Parts: sequence; structure tokens; C-alpha cells
Amino acid sequence: MEKIFLFDTTLRDGEQSPGASMSLDQKITIAKQLEKMGIDVIEAGFPVSSPYQFETCATVSKTIKDATVCVLSRAVENDILKASEAVASAARPRIHTFIATSPIHMEYKLKKDPETVIDMAVAAVKYARNLVPEVEFSAEDATRSDWEFLYRIVEKAINAGATIINIPDTVGYTTPDEYGRLIKAIRDNVPNIDKAILSAHCHNDLGLAVANTLSGINNGIRQAEITINGIGERAGNAALEEIVMALNVRKDFYDFYTDIDTTQLYKASRLLANTIAFPIPRNKPIVGENVFLHQSGIHQDGVIKNKKTYEIMTPESVGRVSNTFTFGRQSGRNAFLQRLKDMNIEIPSDKKDIIYSRFLEIADAKKEVYDEDIFSIVNDELGTKTVFFKLDYFNIISGDVVEPTATVRIDKTGKILKEAATGDGPIDAIFNAIDKITEIETNLIEYNVQAVTPGREALGEVSVGIEIGGEYFAGRGSSTDILEASAKAYVNALNRYMIKTQID
Ligand code: KIV
Ligand code: ZN
Repeated sequence: MEKIFLFDTTLRDGEQSPGASMSLDQKITIAKQLEKMGIDVIEAGFPVSSPYQFETCATVSKTIKDATVCVLSRAVENDILKASEAVASAARPRIHTFIATSPIHMEYKLKKDPETVIDMAVAAVKYARNLVPEVEFSAEDATRSDWEFLYRIVEKAINAGATIINIPDTVGYTTPDEYGRLIKAIRDNVPNIDKAILSAHCHNDLGLAVANTLSGINNGIRQAEITINGIGERAGNAALEEIVMALNVRKDFYDFYTDIDTTQLYKASRLLANTIAFPIPRNKPIVGENVFLHQSGIHQDGVIKNKKTYEIMTPESVGRVSNTFTFGRQSGRNAFLQRLKDMNIEIPSDKKDIIYSRFLEIADAKKEVYDEDIFSIVNDELGTKTVFFKLDYFNIISGDVVEPTATVRIDKTGKILKEAATGDGPIDAIFNAIDKITEIETNLIEYNVQAVTPGREALGEVSVGIEIGGEYFAGRGSSTDILEASAKAYVNALNRYMIKTQID
């Protein structure tokens, strides 16, 4: 069996998803989770693009020891120099330099002729190789490029010192058969291709990113560029958990392996979803809530007789604990902490009391506490480390004959502020009171509530999307009281906006 190297770009391409900005602390937490699960390469960011990006890349480089830390640069000297400074303290540094190779990008975006593009690529790779031991070259928009031109630029990039050649489907345009043929053609037509590892970086505009990457793998790709939950520019990138489990479940067909500890996949997915407040669709492969549930009688009957009738992998294999957590208040603190351990959740000792007391609150309000409840509590408490606003208290007067009125108290970095406001309904009144306190002008564009777990006492999870100054910010909050969950979600989105203002 041959190994497929996994290159995670959640912190770079993933963060390019609108609304997915992360604070430095959050990025380090994600990077550590990636390292723990056995990822080979972490793309930490684009150092030249801002001082914050530079700092993030430098901090990831200092922190991560087992994985290669890679940073992005255009094919220009200043970008590459900054990139080399950002990875200076990495145990295994890599510079990833790219230039567009498709006619449309060269003519309209770069305004350069193809020969100049080749010269720039060669110069960039040579310059980078003098600064770091490992260089990856990407031919941006490769799948809309002339194949003969690609063979030439790839050959020259390898001669200049690139040992990883990435063939991105930048705009998610290719199809599995076509991408497979392109990879095979590159292997057949580039004389020095055996001196490099071929990499796939597929976007999901047609929903084909995972299929295209797998077809690439069958034709010679040995590094897959992926993101947790498939986040990334526009429709996103190939999803880490889908690629890993496709190779794992169908090893009979693919005959490849990865070094990923698959039992860490669910945790990584939840961690990211909470960090950037992007809800995971219930039917999302591998990590969605529905993927191990069986609705129809025929399916349930089959699963009772033998799980394999309708399950091609076990929940445990991706880190989901299948049995319902039925402890109540009487179960005790040790049993609760043991359960966190079983779920691969680590919490700092100073957070144990608060997380346990949140568990007791939920256990009081509900008959059964599920793993999803526990993830929600932990995410709530550990999620946004950079907290500017914290909901301290709220009170609502509402009904069919009174004007809904909310009084809200918020802790604004240590200062307690209180305001009251009316609204069209209780949630509108809460949001209006919060707006009065924060003095931030927002436009609510999304509001969703969903029960995280079954039953009338279920924990409700609210997700909101707000627009501030033309930019989108998502927020999530959970509680057995949906008004409280709504207030928390709104405050969470405002905290994300505050993080972004610091980053900018
Ligand atoms: O999609 C793309 O082409 C990229 C490159 C920078 C690799 O993200
Ligand atoms: Zn990309």
C-alpha cells in the first residue's frame, strides 16, 4: 500500500471562506488538533498579506513539531522572503509558491505572456529553494490551462528545485475522468516527474472536489490538499474527513493509506464548526448528525439484525461515541470527566468546574444528556477565547397583548453595561438591546434554530448571520432556552466581528 500525504489548508484556503476568520488562539488550537490527528502538512497562511497573517504563520511554525508547516507566496521575491521569515522556526518548513497558468488568468489577471509566466515560476522556485529546504509549486487554474504548457512549466519548476507539484482545480471546473486523465498525462509527458510528488487541490463548485481528488489519486496524485468540513473559497475544498474515510473504507479499491487517526475526525469537525460558527448540515458525510441514524422500518430492522446491512463504517471509527449518555446529576463529576476523555475532549483544569456546572444545569433540565449536548457545552465555554462581549443576564417581557421588551446586561471586557429595548418579538427586542450596548450597527441576515438532541427538553442551538460594514459574521449559541441561545449566538457573532477588527 502506498501512502497519501495529507496537506491541510483549513487555516489558509479554509479561512478564505466568507465569515471564517479565526483569531490566533483559535488557529493554534486547530493546528494542534491537526497535528494530533496525524496530518502531514499544515498550510498556516499567506505571510505577506498582513502582519496578522505573518504572526499566525510564525506562531504555528514555532508550535508545531511533527507536521511540516507550509506558507503561501505568490511568485515574487518579496512574498517569498516574507514566507521564509515566517517559517524560520518551523521544524519542517515548506514554501508554497504559485502562479496562474490558464490563458484567462495570464491575460486578464496577470497581464503576462506565457513565457514570462514560466520565467517567473522558475525564478520563484529557485529563490525559495535557497531559503528553505522544501518548495511546492502550484500552477493556479491548472485545469483550465493548456496541457502542453503545463508540461513545460512543471518540468521547469522541478528542474528549478520544486519537489511537490500541485495541480489545482482552482475554480472547481474539472470532472473526475478529466482530472484523472490530466494527472496521467502529466506523468506521461513530463520527463523529470519522478523527482516530485504530485498534489491535488480541488475546489467544490460542482460538488466534485472529493471525487476529482480521488480520481487524481488513482492516476498518480500522492498529496491531497484538503480542509476540515471542506471549507474554503466559494463552495470550498475537498473535505478532509471524506477523503480519509473514502480511502479507509474502500482500501480494497484504492490500495492507499493515510497516517490520520480517524477517531479524531469528528472532534476536528466539531471544533472547527464551533470556532467559525458554521453549522454542519445534518446530512454532511461522516460528521453530520444523520449519518448514523436509520429512519425507515426496513433499515432499522436490518441494523438490529446486523449493523453492516446499512452502515459502511462504525461511528466509533470516526470518533463518535454511539451510546447515549444517560448520566444525570447523580452520575458525579468523575464519571462526567471520564466521559469527556472517552470523547477525546481535553479541557484545561481551570475550566473543569464551569463545564461540569453547565452539565449539571442541562442534566437538571433534561432526562438524557447526549454527546452532542456535551460538545455544545464544551464549545460554548472554550469556543471563542478572545471574548469582548459576554452575556451576563437578560429578562424578557412578552406575550400577545404586550409589546415585547428585553433588558440585557453584557460584560464588555470587564465593564457591566445594561440596556432595555422593545422589538417586533422577544428575539428582536434582545438583539435591539444588545445593539444599544455594543453600539455596533448590524444587519441580521440569517437566523436558524435547531434542536441539538431529541425530546421536548432538547438543547436548542441557534445560529445567526449578521452583516457589519458589508462583511458577514456568523455566531452560534446553545441552551435549553432558545431566547438565551439566541442572545448568546448574537453576542458570539459580535465577538467574531471584534476579532476581525483586531486582525485587520
Ligand atoms: O485554488 C487554488 O488554486 C489555490 C492555490 C493558491 C493553490 O488555492
Ligand atoms: Zn484553493
